Formats: sequence, structure tokens, C-alpha cells
Amino acid sequence: MQNRTYRLAMIGFGSVGQGFVQILQRRADWINERYGVALSLVGVATRRAGGVSNPDGLDLAALLRAAEQHDMSQLDGTKTTDPQAFINQVEADVLVEVSSTDLDSGEPATSYIRTAFGRGMHVVTANKGPLALHGPTLLQEARAAGVQLGYEGTVMSGTPALRLGWSDLAGCELREARGILNGTTNYILTQMESGLSYAGALQEAQRLGYAETDPTGDVGGHDAAGKAVILANMLFDARLRPADVQRTGITGITSDDVAEARAAGERWKLIAHVQRDGDAVTASVQPMRLPVSHPLAGVGGATNAITFTTDLLGDVTLIGPGAGGVATGFALLSDILALP
Ligand code: HSE
Repeated sequence: MQNRTYRLAMIGFGSVGQGFVQILQRRADWINERYGVALSLVGVATRRAGGVSNPDGLDLAALLRAAEQHDMSQLDGTKTTDPQAFINQVEADVLVEVSSTDLDSGEPATSYIRTAFGRGMHVVTANKGPLALHGPTLLQEARAAGVQLGYEGTVMSGTPALRLGWSDLAGCELREARGILNGTTNYILTQMESGLSYAGALQEAQRLGYAETDPTGDVGGHDAAGKAVILANMLFDARLRPADVQRTGITGITSDDVAEARAAGERWKLIAHVQRDGDAVTASVQPMRLPVSHPLAGVGGATNAITFTTDLLGDVTLIGPGAGGVATGFALLSDILALP
């Protein structure tokens, strides 16, 4: 086994960034023993709480305490207030990009990623904006710069949906993908079945860290549409934009609708669908009533699922966590462990 060392610099320190640091705190020694990969977090920068870098590695426990207090000023190291300047200066091998998602502009994350490529850094990200808007282009830019772009966490958090489609099913033609790709809405629909109100269930999803900063992106189906675009463009060779996805969210689903479906032996699920049709690829997101016997109907809470329909294997289904700090932090780790 060839030993490798990666100095990591992180942009953003919300629930995903903190989940990743918690994993490093618990696992870095074990990862080094097991895989021969030494990981050292040498810097973190945020737009709101400032940032800090230290070439000897940051104190992870102190960093997590600082995140709770939204203040990095007490940490040992060089302070920074500008993430872009931080990427330009930090001496690191990998940029861990987990700043907040903007599915309309993809910024500032896309610029952060490009700056890192320009400095010869690999990038791992869970940020849907850059991938949904510029995925294939960013991948080409990474190749041209001789670095890797890891983006497993953009769809189904750490559950390896993209890796399954791209790598494990390589050699099959992917004809369709159908899935529950948004944890917040699946959690809300599941809680509504247990009698909770829509508003109460949404509040709980926010408290548990599943929802986006602005949860209208979840309940309106934008988040699932962004993920459908990532699947379409990165696995089905399409060139869709989020606006191309025919999209309906769950805001129109009432407690009465949920009860009516239940009485009929059915469940509401927000289903994202990507389909190849000749040379064209289309994508949609819409709430659907599925019989409880349907495999996707049994997927409850923030859990996600995807079924790939392939030519050689038929249907292949993957079920697993779709949101949450540690679950998405794991996706970043899996991308780092896959680096050359
Ligand atoms: N808000 C997203 C969800 C987070 O609920 O699925 C993971 O992308």
C-alpha cells in the first residue's frame, strides 16, 4: 500500500463541514492505519465567521467549539476573512468545498472551485449549485488542470448513488433513474402520515439539519430538480439545466391528501425521474401516489432511494441516507479516499 498525505483546506463550516470534521476527529488515525492515507485539515474559511489556517494542522476539537460560537478568532493560526483570498494563499492539496448552495447562480462556490483548480488543488464538494449548473464543464476543467473533482455528496449525501451509476454499473446503458432524492420532503411526508402537520414536520426537518438554509428549495422541488440534473448530466451525458426539469413540489399536499392516499393503501412520495428517450434525456420531479407495496413507498424519513433501470441488469436499487452533516461529510471522505 502506497502511503499518501493530503493537506485539506475547507470552505464553509455549516452542518456538512462540521460533520466532516467530526469524522476526521474520530477516524483520521484509523484511516491512516487502514488505508495509508494521512489527512490534515490545514485551514477553514467562511464568509460570515471568518477563517483560520495553520500548516501544522488545526485543532479539530477547538474548531468545532468555535463553530458553535460562530467565532474563529480564538483559534491558533493565521486569520482570514475572505474565502477567495484564502484559497489563493493556503498551501493544501485538496479543497473541501461546502459553502452554501445556490442553484440559481452556482456562486460563489463555482469560483472557489475554479480558483482551486488554478492552484493545482483537487476539489471535493457536496455543493449542488456548481454541479447542477456547470458539472460537465467543471469536470473538463479539472482534467485540463490535472486534478480530480469529487462530487458524490451532491446526490443522496454519502450513499454512493453517483458512484454506483458511473463506476459500478459501467458497461450497462442507463435507461432511467427514478428516486426519492430529497430527505426533507420525504421526512415531511412520512411525518404527516403519522399525524404531524406540514409546518411542524418542516420545522423538525430544519432542526435535524436536513433542510436547506432556505427550505423553499426543498419543498418546492428545486433541490430534487438540481439532483436530477446532476444525474442526467453526469451519468446520462445530457446537458440539462435546472429550468429544463418539469417540477412540482409538495407544498400543495395537505394532511387530507395524505390520509386519502393512506386509506387507499398508497403513499405520497416526491419522485425525481430521469429518462433516456432516443438521443434525448428528460427529467421531472413530482409528487406521486405509490402503492405501499412499491419499493420506493417503503422508504421513509430522510432516507433516499434510487432505482437505475439498465439494459444488462434490469433494475438496480440503492437505499440510504440522503441528508445530514455526518452522512454528507462521509461523501467528502469517500471522494478523498478515491483520489489518486
Ligand atoms: N436539503 C437536502 C435534502 C439536503 O433534504 O435532501 C441534502 O442534499
